[in-house]
Amino acid sequence: MTSQELRAKFLKFFEKNDHKIIPSASLVPSEEEQLEGKEKVLFTSAGMQPLIPYLIGQKEPPSKRLANVQKCLRTDDIEKVGDAVHHTFFEMLGNWSIGDYWKEEAIRLSFEFLTQELGIPIEKLAISVFAGDEDAPKDEESAQIWKSLGISEKRIFYFGKNHNWWPTGEKSGLCGPDTEMFYWIGGGKPEGKPNEDSRWVEIWNDVFMQFNRKEDGTLEDLPQKNVDTGMGLERILAVLNGKESDYETDLFLPIIKVAEEQLLIKFKYGEDKRVDRAFKIIADHIKAVVFLINEDIEPSNKDRGYILRRLIRRTLTQNHLWGDINSSISLLVNSVIEIYKNKYSDLARNTQHIKDVIKQEEIGANKAVNAAMTVWRKWVEEEHRGGFGSQPFGTATFGSGGYLPPVSAEKMFDLYQSYGLHPEIMEEITQGQFDRTGFDKLFFEHQKRSRAGLIQKFAGGLAGHSETEIKYHTATHLLHQALRDVLGPEVFQKGSNITAERLRFDFSYPEKLTDEQIKKVEDLVNQKIAEDLEVTSEVMSKEEALKSGALGFFNEKYGDKVKVYTIGSPSTFRPRSGLASSKSPFSREICGGPHVERTGVIGKIQIIKEEAVSSGIRRIRAEIVLR
Ligand code: ALA
Repeated sequence: MTSQELRAKFLKFFEKNDHKIIPSASLVPSEEEQLEGKEKVLFTSAGMQPLIPYLIGQKEPPSKRLANVQKCLRTDDIEKVGDAVHHTFFEMLGNWSIGDYWKEEAIRLSFEFLTQELGIPIEKLAISVFAGDEDAPKDEESAQIWKSLGISEKRIFYFGKNHNWWPTGEKSGLCGPDTEMFYWIGGGKPEGKPNEDSRWVEIWNDVFMQFNRKEDGTLEDLPQKNVDTGMGLERILAVLNGKESDYETDLFLPIIKVAEEQLLIKFKYGEDKRVDRAFKIIADHIKAVVFLINEDIEPSNKDRGYILRRLIRRTLTQNHLWGDINSSISLLVNSVIEIYKNKYSDLARNTQHIKDVIKQEEIGANKAVNAAMTVWRKWVEEEHRGGFGSQPFGTATFGSGGYLPPVSAEKMFDLYQSYGLHPEIMEEITQGQFDRTGFDKLFFEHQKRSRAGLIQKFAGGLAGHSETEIKYHTATHLLHQALRDVLGPEVFQKGSNITAERLRFDFSYPEKLTDEQIKKVEDLVNQKIAEDLEVTSEVMSKEEALKSGALGFFNEKYGDKVKVYTIGSPSTFRPRSGLASSKSPFSREICGGPHVERTGVIGKIQIIKEEAVSSGIRRIRAEIVLR
């Protein structure tokens, strides 16, 4: 079955069952599609997003029964793209009841579509339903309905919130228990449980969306009981065609083929696992890039533009690793448009614009990647002299016998310091055979020693830091100032360590913080995030910086010029005392950066732990809890 046939089959079935077919909404949610009181989402990441005004009873839907195929973008799992099932851009098949049918009809429709329209044998299906907790009872009703349709009792499983509640892990917003459908892709007789055996692949999710979770965690009933379903087009297409990987379908293979030919990748798809991963990343990301530019988003260092920039650069890195570095990834654009032009007719009109934006971005990014790659290549050749003979770089390094020189943290740090070769590229190049933790340790030790001197060599290039780490970096400045405001000016930074998961901050203070003090500090940081303060930087002499009230590290050696980061206006140079007042910015520190442009993007932080490090030094660990 082709993707076009599958979309058409889905829509026809629901039309026949009295649903109104609505077009796919934009990837960029409008204001009214955002939930009040919740952090704004950057992209439409599920079919229900554009329907929020209907689901919350704010707007009259064109029909109480709706269905569509919605384009979606999720970047939470961007690092996982490259396996068989993760994507940034994808399409979701969905049907909705806006206060119309409920569990019985929803489940019957799903069952009929899967077994009658798609012809999936009933024995190859397994079902999960909500096991029940303080929020909602065990969903015996759904289990009963599935049984009445012929699903064997032993294929119905009861799972908790982590599986059968949507959305998982969200602290507020629309939600409810769900029932999920799994398809057996293993040969022979199906066995095991869907949450333990990966041969059970989740294909469809029917959410019984009846609640809104408020900020304080309590649930309130929505004005009506809704059904929200979602089935990933890529996944169901793959399983129906007997493919284990979504990438082996007509939604990806044509792009991979053009990548093989036009980017002159040194292997064919299927020849080498690591290169296959690159093909998948390229095919996935270029789709997202095409669709984002088609929505008039331009590469930038902020919000949606930043995601676009990152996707382009990640694609380029893969091409630099395995393909011809002179080939432009814009060569792939036509193949993406060819796949989607029937469904999204605006794409074809924008082809030239999409290519132009990519090419423009490539010029700047290529310089940084090229510089980094040249350095690494030289190093590999020197270190392993003679080992690679005259084979081309990609083939020699990765191809022969899968040989890949591991890179020590020290070596990497040396390359980083001397040439700005960023660890993210190194992770890509070595496929994880690189001591990232060791590198981060050296990096932060060094940063502590020469914070002010750290002005990046390839500024604006790939020498950036991960998005999350940058957020933590700015959050650390906010935390430092908040501690000083709450506890007094004797608080001073003694150490800082950031990973993509958390920040850790050591500071001088003689005693354990009370719960109340911790809460005050946390609230103050979150208040400053919510104020969405501007973060600016200026280069000045050390004397000027300290005079301006910038926090510095007096036992450190600074160069002649230092960089000062200011959070909150007035962002221009103005002397201030140690503590924040209404006339002064919230925080000012000597620091090499980088930082976010506005505090709002950080989301929200939570102080997880407060403990002693040594006499007179405390340590706080904090995490970003909302993105
Ligand atoms: N909104 C639900 C999901 O994305 C159907 O899984």
